[in-house]
Amino acid sequence: MYRKSIIVTFLLAGSFIGTWAQNVIKLVPGPDTITISRHIYGHFAEHLGRCIYDGIYVGEDNGTIPHTNGVRNDVIEALKKLHIPNLRWPGGCFADTYHWKDGIGPKGKRPSIVNTWWGGVTENNSFGTHDFLNMCELLETEPYLAGNVGSGEVQELADWVQYVNFDGKSPMSDLRRENGRDKPWKVRFWGVGNEAWGCGGNMTPDYYADIYRKYATFMSDWTNSGGLFRIASGANSADYNWTETLMKRIPKSLVKGIALHHYAVIDWSKKGSATMYSDEQYFKTMKSAWFMNELVEKHSSIMDKYDPKKEIALVVDEWGGWYEVEPGTNPGFLYQQNTMRDAMIAGMTLNIFNNHAERVRMANLAQTVNVLQAVILTEGDKMLVTPTYHVMEMYKVHQDATLIPLEVSSQSLSFSGESIPAVSASASTAKDGKTHISLVNIDPKNQQEITVNLSDKKYKNLSGRLLTSAKLRDFNSFDKPDFIKPEAFKGAELKNNEISVTLPPFSVAVLELN
Ligand code: AHR
Repeated sequence: MYRKSIIVTFLLAGSFIGTWAQNVIKLVPGPDTITISRHIYGHFAEHLGRCIYDGIYVGEDNGTIPHTNGVRNDVIEALKKLHIPNLRWPGGCFADTYHWKDGIGPKGKRPSIVNTWWGGVTENNSFGTHDFLNMCELLETEPYLAGNVGSGEVQELADWVQYVNFDGKSPMSDLRRENGRDKPWKVRFWGVGNEAWGCGGNMTPDYYADIYRKYATFMSDWTNSGGLFRIASGANSADYNWTETLMKRIPKSLVKGIALHHYAVIDWSKKGSATMYSDEQYFKTMKSAWFMNELVEKHSSIMDKYDPKKEIALVVDEWGGWYEVEPGTNPGFLYQQNTMRDAMIAGMTLNIFNNHAERVRMANLAQTVNVLQAVILTEGDKMLVTPTYHVMEMYKVHQDATLIPLEVSSQSLSFSGESIPAVSASASTAKDGKTHISLVNIDPKNQQEITVNLSDKKYKNLSGRLLTSAKLRDFNSFDKPDFIKPEAFKGAELKNNEISVTLPPFSVAVLELN
């Protein structure tokens, strides 16, 4: 979808170079109708640090923080505004240590376990299957359960499916009723393990493919309308052999999605601060985020060989920026602040997913509250939403909208001899007929002049919203929770079916046309 511009740059080591070619974006509606699945806008909540406990669940007996069945009301309200389409739980790496039967029944009788992956803290299992699935009902979101393959058993996962989904009489549905829930929740999305190449069991792709076939076979719920959506644990970034092996060895009847995990990280051994990053670290983060474009294209082309009709979805069920934890916090809790850099990652990545919506039909930002690139941070009874939250909120107009393919010719952002596009974009037409174009300028120093060519369709009205701030490293704090928030965008003008846009440095804009 992206056309490379031929741009001459003067290279100067250690500083940003903007190039001075014109940015041109052309809407090229084609004959095919491709829907941007709302499930691209999914989230992920793991039993990790303060995501579930503190961040989401404060307990039924909590007298200071307003809650519904122990789930914070402020978090429920904020997530509902995002229209989150699905929520992945309970991990992550935690999923392959999780035995779901520990988290059902009277809370006082549930066993305490050790969360071996994340800080070695005690997990008292007070937030379990009922708590999560009832919360999903409150949030009006679809649950995505990640099953334990690494340290679990086939029967255990088969039982979980029966427990949450079976309406008739059976050992597991009787147990569910004993625990207070009559009707099944009818969960459609099921992950068969997580990161099987790593924390999920250090398996080879061939071994995992065989294990997958066995687990998937016994996760039977033929009554679920449309069948279960089973998702195979996917590749670590550029491990293309993983995708190739799964596509080759897993029968189509057993799989609806193949996952992919990729984090925007500078260097796993030197991740850098979430707030005090150098220009070089900023560029490296954005380069790693932009790599998602290549990953999606290369994994998709492998999938195309085995599945030319694109029946199997590419599910990017972990993505986001990963930095050092905030000073003084538990290193195993992955708590990080969220600056305008994170808004750039979110805007660019969601544009990539939208533009590849034919194959990328589900994705999950890591993670929802207090962990990694969170949309929400909490501190006691205080809560704030991050710049990433605002991008997700601005982009929700693309959910289930019809993709308008684009040709993008962008200036480059260059640093020490390396270049990535400064401008990214995606566009769609919503069910109400309105067209939305989301634009991101990741250049930290220069505004971008962009011409958007609207093709044949005539529009009369243009409006827009913008997210930016005075400084790239700005963030929302508990003292100033609304420091960064969207504002009306005045930098776009519609004339002769073209839009002239002046997009400020490090900003995200969403335009609306009708
Ligand atoms: O999101 C944090 C961790 O990153 C997840 O538990 C794991 O799947 C990945 O490595």
